[in-house]
Amino acid sequence: MKAIWITRKGGPEVLELRDTPDPIPAPGEVLIRVKAAGLNRSDIYSRQSNSYGNDRPEIPGLEISGTIVSCGENVSRWHPGDAVCALITGGGYAEYAAVPAGQCLPIPNGWTIEEAASLPETVLTVWSNVWITAKLRAGEHLLVHGGSSGIGTTAIQLAVAMGNPVYTTAGTDEKCRWCESLGAARAVNYRSEDFESVLKDAGIDVILDMTGGDFTPKNLRLLRQDGRLVFINAMRGKEATIDLPGIMSKRLVITGSMLKPRSAAFKAELTADVEKQVWPLIARGALRPLIYASFPLDRVAEAQQLMESNAHRGKILLLVS
Ligand SMILES: NC(=O)c1ccc[n+]([C@@H]2O[C@H](COP(=O)([O-])OP(=O)(O)OC[C@H]3O[C@@H](n4cnc5c(N)ncnc54)[C@H](OP(=O)(O)O)[C@@H]3O)[C@@H](O)[C@H]2O)c1
Repeated sequence: MKAIWITRKGGPEVLELRDTPDPIPAPGEVLIRVKAAGLNRSDIYSRQSNSYGNDRPEIPGLEISGTIVSCGENVSRWHPGDAVCALITGGGYAEYAAVPAGQCLPIPNGWTIEEAASLPETVLTVWSNVWITAKLRAGEHLLVHGGSSGIGTTAIQLAVAMGNPVYTTAGTDEKCRWCESLGAARAVNYRSEDFESVLKDAGIDVILDMTGGDFTPKNLRLLRQDGRLVFINAMRGKEATIDLPGIMSKRLVITGSMLKPRSAAFKAELTADVEKQVWPLIARGALRPLIYASFPLDRVAEAQQLMESNAHRGKILLLVS
């Protein structure tokens, strides 16, 4: 098969299309003929620093969609010919991928197979952090930074579908108005406005944060009593000043997670929960496919450059076959 390899640490030029042996599904896995792969920011980090830290070549890609071509032993739910989307731990930028059966999901009604490649990593991340870890309850207010990102757009739309008022930040006025068109009550351009001043009366209960750094003290001041701050990245800096008495007096909870290194057992359990709780919402139109651009596999460098430019809104796809 053809696959994209991160050949060494570096810029987009280190991505190479190479002939690679087809993967063989182990017991409990299915082999998927990949139709599309979703890009995620983590793919860029894998290329820049190599996620193993030792420059070992790897095939990036955390979410795919396609058709099952064969099943390993002990797989009963899925059959050859089934169309699925799936969460994987690398290996998605390729014509075939072997995936644990428990990390596959059916294509939601109303979505094409290609569009569904944009769902697994974003929906599982948002659901696990906002609803499972931070336990966003009915009526509580959510703030999502990076509102126009794949993660941000998913969080905004899901919160709207669940009836939670949602606020957001983004880097341009045009992105902000677009986030509001998705249902955000207010989107703040963090480059031209101070989001803390604008949102000081919003009464934020939960913050999904990919920014960290200098946004952190503002986030903590914005949270109400018993508020929860959940980190999924620290794009503005891994160090922050926090006011400890403020945490104590408001009984705030600061937490965070990384999905990629979690076990296959955890991912299967989360996938099952998402299928039960979120897939029915998607089938009723809670999420719209927000595909900003699609590229063939051999133009992967352009696709990643677009993501690094932050010019996109929503998701970027690689069309594989
Ligand atoms: N922990 C996990 O398990 C997990 C899983 C998935 C994703 N993530 C993280 O979630 C984030 C979104 O992922 P994605 O794949 O959806 O990426 P993405 O579409 O590339 O979004 C990244 C967003 O970050 C914003 N941004 C960039 N630099 C910023 C800065 N200095 N300050 C404020 N905002 C900034 C950009 O928008 P602006 O133009 O508005 O700046 C952009 O929309 C990434 O940081 C990713 O690493 C974490």
